[in-house]
Amino acid sequence: MHRVVVTDYLQPPAWVEERELAGVATVECLQARRTAELAGRIEDADGILLFHEVSLPAELIHRLERCRVIVRGGVGFDNVDLAAARARGITVCHVPDYGVDEVADHAIGLMLAVNRGWVGVERRLRRHLEPWDKRAVEPVSRLAGQTFGVIGLGRIGAATALRARAFRMRVIACDPYLRPGLEKVYGVPLVDLDTLLRESDVVSVHTPLNDETRGLLGSRALSLMKRGAILINTSRGAVVDTEALADALESGHISGAGIDVLPSEPPTGEERLVKLWREDRNPLVNLILTPHTAFYSEEAVMEIRVKAAQEIRRVLGGAPPRNPVEASR
Ligand code: NAI
Repeated sequence: MHRVVVTDYLQPPAWVEERELAGVATVECLQARRTAELAGRIEDADGILLFHEVSLPAELIHRLERCRVIVRGGVGFDNVDLAAARARGITVCHVPDYGVDEVADHAIGLMLAVNRGWVGVERRLRRHLEPWDKRAVEPVSRLAGQTFGVIGLGRIGAATALRARAFRMRVIACDPYLRPGLEKVYGVPLVDLDTLLRESDVVSVHTPLNDETRGLLGSRALSLMKRGAILINTSRGAVVDTEALADALESGHISGAGIDVLPSEPPTGEERLVKLWREDRNPLVNLILTPHTAFYSEEAVMEIRVKAAQEIRRVLGGAPPRNPVEASR
C-alpha cells in the first residue's frame, strides 16, 4: 500500500481522496499551515497533494525518499520547486480545469463592483444613511463600449474575455504564448502589452506567476494605463507590484482595483496596499480585496479533490498523468 499525504488546507477525514485511492494508498491530512511544519512528515510519502498554504522548496523535495508524484490541487504551481522535482524524477501535476468559471465570474464581479462603486458606498451608507442617491457613487462611467484588456488569454483569461464581450465591451488581449489562431476562435484581437495598457479602461490579469511575469504590473506598466482605469487581478499576487498599485490608487491615476491575490497570503496588515484598503478615509479608496476566493465554489473544491486524487492514482499505478505541469509552461 502506498502512502499519500495531503500537506495543507484539507481537514480530515479525507473521504474523497480515500474513496478515489481505495486499494492503492492510505491518505493522511497533515494540516500544515507553514512549510516549516512539513519536515519529518513527508519524507516517506509516495504521493503528495498540496494546496496553497505551504510550498515544496528544493530542500524538502531533496529529502523525499519514495515520492513519485506531487499534485498541486489547483492551477498555479509556483509553490513547487520544479527543477528539484525533475532532478528526483518526480512527476508534478496540477488541476487546470476545475474552476475556470468561478475565477472568470469573480474577475467580472470585481470589475462591476469597482466600476459601480458598490462596496465603498455600502460601507459608508451603513453608517450615515446619506446621501441616499447617486451622489453616493458619483462618478460612474458606462461599461458598454469601454475597452477590456486581458493579460494572459488562457483558460480563465478567455472565459473572462467572453463574459466581458457579453457586457458589450471591446475586448483586446496580450498573450505572447497563445497557440496561434485561438484569438480568432475567441474573436479577441491580440496587441502588445504597452498597447493594451494604453487602450484599456479595465485591465484584467490572468497570467501564471513565473520569472517573466513577477512584477509585470509595476510602476512603469501602471503609469502606462489610462488615467482613471481599473485594475483587476485574480491571477497571482506577485504579478502586480502592490506598492506601485497603492501609489497609483492614492494619486488617482488608477481609479479602482479589485484584487483577489496578494504577494504573501494571508496578509499581516503591514502591507501598504492592505493598510490603504483598511483606512477609514473620505472618500474611501475604491479598492476591493477578496481573500483568494476567486476559485471557490463547493462544486469547484469537489472537482479539484476528485481530479487531484485520480491523478495520483494514475501515476502510482504506472499510467501517464493527464495534467503534468510541463504541458502548461
Ligand atoms: P493558463 O495557463 O490557461 O493561462 C495563462 C495564459 O497566460 C497562457 O495563455 C499564457 O500563454 C499566458 N501568459 C504567460 N506568460 C505571459 C505573459 N508574460 N504575458 C501575457 N500572457 C502570458 O492558466 P489559467 O488556468 O487561465 O490561470 C491563470 C492564472 O489564474 C494563474 O496565475 C493561476 O494560478 C490563477 N488562478 C487563480 C485562482 C484564484 O483563486 N484566484 C484560481 C485559479 C487560477
